[in-house]
Amino acid sequence: MFGEIFDRELRRGSVFLDPSKLSPDYLPERLPCREEEFGRLVSLFRPMLEGGMPCRVLITGRVGVGKTALSRRFGLEAEGRGKGVRLSHLYLNCRGRTPYSLLLEAVRKFLPGWPERGVGRGELLSLLVEHLRHHGLHLLLILDEVDYLVLRHGPDLLYSLSRTGETASRISLLSISRDRRFLAELDEPTRATFLGHHLELPPYTREQLEEILRARREEAFRRGALPDESLALAAEMASRRGDARMGIELLLRAGMLADARGSRTVLPEHLREARASLYPELRREVLSELSPHELLLLLAAARGLRKAGSLTTGELRRAYEVVCEEHGEKPRHHSVMLEHLRRLEALGILEVEPLSLHPRGQTQRISLEVAPAGELEKEVERLLSERRG
Ligand SMILES: Nc1ncnc2c1ncn2[C@@H]1O[C@H](COP(=O)(O)OP(=O)(O)OP(=O)(O)O)[C@@H](O)[C@H]1O
Ligand SMILES: [Mg+2]
Repeated sequence: MFGEIFDRELRRGSVFLDPSKLSPDYLPERLPCREEEFGRLVSLFRPMLEGGMPCRVLITGRVGVGKTALSRRFGLEAEGRGKGVRLSHLYLNCRGRTPYSLLLEAVRKFLPGWPERGVGRGELLSLLVEHLRHHGLHLLLILDEVDYLVLRHGPDLLYSLSRTGETASRISLLSISRDRRFLAELDEPTRATFLGHHLELPPYTREQLEEILRARREEAFRRGALPDESLALAAEMASRRGDARMGIELLLRAGMLADARGSRTVLPEHLREARASLYPELRREVLSELSPHELLLLLAAARGLRKAGSLTTGELRRAYEVVCEEHGEKPRHHSVMLEHLRRLEALGILEVEPLSLHPRGQTQRISLEVAPAGELEKEVERLLSERRG
């Protein structure tokens, strides 16, 4: 019985040639619209590439602007291109990791099977550096979502990787973060190094997204299965936020819907349906990283926006005070609240625009385009009550 079901379902046509080309882990050979930024990276890392001098570079940019893809590509391409230096690279994502586990992974790249315990952090690092020295290697360490590391565990690992001496001379760092907030946790010299070698990736425009999605169409879809009109609509939808991940996720979901409906092409209607099911900003892993007061502020915004198209900063402040009272929390100072607001904006959850015509000039207009306010409110309330236990 099941054999027949498999055969029947798999015989049905599909709009896809290779849906894995739309998976989040797939790293394309080409990154259209990031050639210039790739060139900037090459020039920022030039001292490393041409003689093994250590470099430290920071990449920032909003959700889905290609920070991870660009850095991983750069690491892969840089290996073997060093002049007078043997380069090796390692990509590590810091989210949910400890300094120890990151160092352990770096050691295991060169000494596979190195035991989990036994030596302290300092010794692990010495081991790594000794190995690099012995083999005449320079390591390009890519630390993705480095802000999680610094905000959770402090800046010690960054310091020990970049202090002077053998360690610093053998290891270059490419750090990635959505925003620059974590820089406040660093000492002045380290912060200055980051700011002096900083690459900000701007959000993609609609035209750029179309180009990126067109390249992905070639790899992932059967010829003719994704008409230009549908592709343009996906780019338009993702261009609100300049987010390539969203565009790609929309193509995948819409393609699966087309298959499920037995349609041989992906229609605009499939994209609209995919869009409705996709609120990337509401992904639990994004919301669950918010601090308690960021969540309270978001709840206040969602409540206010359920009744209005947009809120001013003053209206948000009042809603926030009400929410705090409800939750038995003391509202944070206004300037701290504005910082939380900036973070919610950087994460792409809220839109914040200055209201320049306003007499005091400091007011902002807060809005929400990515999801219905009611959905957001429910999700935030669920998280808050989970945290209360
Ligand atoms: N220029 C590009 N060309 C082709 N694909 C791209 C490009 N930029 C981004 N992508 C694709 O878009 C998706 C999101 O990119 P990426 O993961 O690099 O974003 P990010 O900036 O790291 O986002 P986040 O802050 O959420 O980690 C990935 O699937 C990536 O392959
Ligand atoms: Mg990333």
